[in-house]
Amino acid sequence: MKTEELKKLFDQLSLKEKIGQMVQIPGYFLSEGNITGPALDMGLTQEDIDLAGSVLSVIGADRLKAIQTAYMEKHPHHIPMLFMADIINGYRTVFPIPLAQGCSFDPALAENGAAIAAEEAAAAGIHVTFSPMADLSRDARWGRVMESTGEDPYLNGLMASAMVQGYQGMDHETIPEGKLAACLKHYAGYGAPTAGRDYNTVELSARTLREDYLPAYQRAVEAGCDLVMTSFNTLDRIPSSANRWLLREVLRDEMGFDGVVISDWAAIHELVEHGIAADDREAAKLAVLAGVDIDMASPAYCRNLLSLVKDGEVPESLIDEAAWRILVLKNRLGLFENPYKDASAADETAKILSDAHRAAARKAAADTFVLLKNDNALLPIRQEERIGCIGPYADRRQLSGSWSIFADDSVTETLREAFSGDANVRFAKGCSILDPGAPRVPFGAQKIADEPETDADAALEEALRLAADSDKVILTLGEPNDYSGEAASRANLTLPECQQRLLRETAKVNPNIVVILFCGRPLDIRPVKELAGAILVAWFPGTEGALALTDVLTGKTAPSGKLAMSFPYCVGQTPVFYAQLSTGRPFHGDFRTDRFHSKYLDIPNEPLYPFGYGLTYTSFECSAVTLNKAVMEKSDTIHACVTLANTGSVKGTETVQLYIHDCAASVARPVREMKAFKKVTLSPGESKNVEFVITEEMLRFHDIGMNFVSEPGRFEVFIGSDSTTENKAVFELK
Ligand code: BGC
Ligand code: BGC
Repeated sequence: MKTEELKKLFDQLSLKEKIGQMVQIPGYFLSEGNITGPALDMGLTQEDIDLAGSVLSVIGADRLKAIQTAYMEKHPHHIPMLFMADIINGYRTVFPIPLAQGCSFDPALAENGAAIAAEEAAAAGIHVTFSPMADLSRDARWGRVMESTGEDPYLNGLMASAMVQGYQGMDHETIPEGKLAACLKHYAGYGAPTAGRDYNTVELSARTLREDYLPAYQRAVEAGCDLVMTSFNTLDRIPSSANRWLLREVLRDEMGFDGVVISDWAAIHELVEHGIAADDREAAKLAVLAGVDIDMASPAYCRNLLSLVKDGEVPESLIDEAAWRILVLKNRLGLFENPYKDASAADETAKILSDAHRAAARKAAADTFVLLKNDNALLPIRQEERIGCIGPYADRRQLSGSWSIFADDSVTETLREAFSGDANVRFAKGCSILDPGAPRVPFGAQKIADEPETDADAALEEALRLAADSDKVILTLGEPNDYSGEAASRANLTLPECQQRLLRETAKVNPNIVVILFCGRPLDIRPVKELAGAILVAWFPGTEGALALTDVLTGKTAPSGKLAMSFPYCVGQTPVFYAQLSTGRPFHGDFRTDRFHSKYLDIPNEPLYPFGYGLTYTSFECSAVTLNKAVMEKSDTIHACVTLANTGSVKGTETVQLYIHDCAASVARPVREMKAFKKVTLSPGESKNVEFVITEEMLRFHDIGMNFVSEPGRFEVFIGSDSTTENKAVFELK
């Protein structure tokens, strides 16, 4: 529809209809066609539901078409409804969890995954996905790290913008066929809850917010994402849904966002619980003044905006502004021409879980695994070797992570099934996934079916017999998938005792242990590092995860992932991340001379495995860094170069990473920050020059006056295979 036509339509809407656009109802309100219990609990009437401009979490082409038809018939101006849902790492063809995708260091992988998710979900009638999540995540206790791409602002920005492009396409005028509008979340700072407890208070200085947390959101906004979701947390003691500075000044004025702002689930109503509003009416007023356009799943707007406007407490222009943005979004999706968009039962059948989608998911999964250890080249396994595949994940179907809420695990093969043609691979469970008495998450799409073994000792004995009679053991360990994700914070990051016992006992009968780790977060894996010869982090690899594992375990594909988040030594270190500030007293490792330095008495400062770390089946050598000049003018660039050589015996991919350290600035700068990386694939014996161009923009930061500038002085450039590389050169910025 042309803008003038849309304006005409808009002018005909009553205030009530405009407010209706700003209301999003949960799908279960529609389950019977008319409102059911929960809507009545929220105080919504049938009329409220009939005017609500969007709904979340209903899926299915035929169902959504029927809902749309009925809704539009009733609507006074026949405006179509928006259908939104959480399509996170896939709809039915599930890709690896976002944290795993971060480990690919491959934005094209994330873009392709998002494109496939969009194609499947669009066929199922969805218009908007609540993804990407660009929250910087540095605390492994926080369960939602699984939904982020990790601890690095630069990597997160690349991944978030790639996902936006994958969902929405590159045509900035419309959301074309087979695409979804993307909703960036959770703005802002949601990834930094105090003590790692989900929804908890966030304390960030304005500078840290701008330096580390805002950039990834900004990249996604620049990529053109259509919506932004507010976060649940407070920032400077102000909940995001009431933070006018954050939403109007920073997001709209500074970042230039002109799309729709939606609250997180009931977050406007929760302003009351936060203690900044006396009731829903005050909450609605604060949120609309702050700039939230859509109230997700709370009665605040629906029940109060009309009277707030009538009483002169909220200017009607704010309602106009919000409702207009929502109509513009509907128009971008082409809903005025075709309110069903891509909903098609035939396309659902043809596209969902198609061979091509599954093949892409399998390739993606293989590229997200991170090899942390591989002593004596335990991996890959060889055809003739007799393998004991043991552990609670050896025959487990729940490989998709907690956000795959529309996925059907029955289409996911287990590792045992994936290896079924290979008589040399035999199986035993060994132990249950959790200790007796461990909390079972009582909700979620994929409930923990797995109860403790009735006879744990017998299960262990069977596994040990198999281990003793095998050349190598593949030990599959990890957390259940609903131990990460929303509201799944953990204060202990160790593996359950039953799994640790299985590891200890297996090590006594067979030293050749390869651990495959399934997890939604970095865990404390000290015992695994000590007892296993090889460690492969598989995260939650998705629908094709087990097949991808067979590809990597057998050497058909070499692992190439790098950690997008540090694995802490133990929970007491969290949050631990590479881009920390120095202290005035950095610890150099000697307890006698460094007594009064920044350290722990009982654990090292360093994580067990750092950001950027990951091995493959070959080895690489990286030459010293050379720079084409030692002094850089601001208008100039510097070329930093290394030669990378494959010194092993198989083809492999290395991710060469460039980090920069600003040695003296008007405020303290991180000890290093990743500014670029390149993935390089080399055959055995092959070598290649890898060149990076350092620009003045890469050296900018928020200075003492909060200006985003570079400052003259000395810079160190590190280039290597992970964030601890000491391979460096120095230059000066004039
Ligand atoms: C989550 C969001 C999600 C929303 C809708 C909330 O609880 O924080 O990430 O998009 O629910 O399901
Ligand atoms: C301590 C101070 C102390 C000073 C002089 C420093 O190392 O932090 O508390 O007063 O030494 O002894």
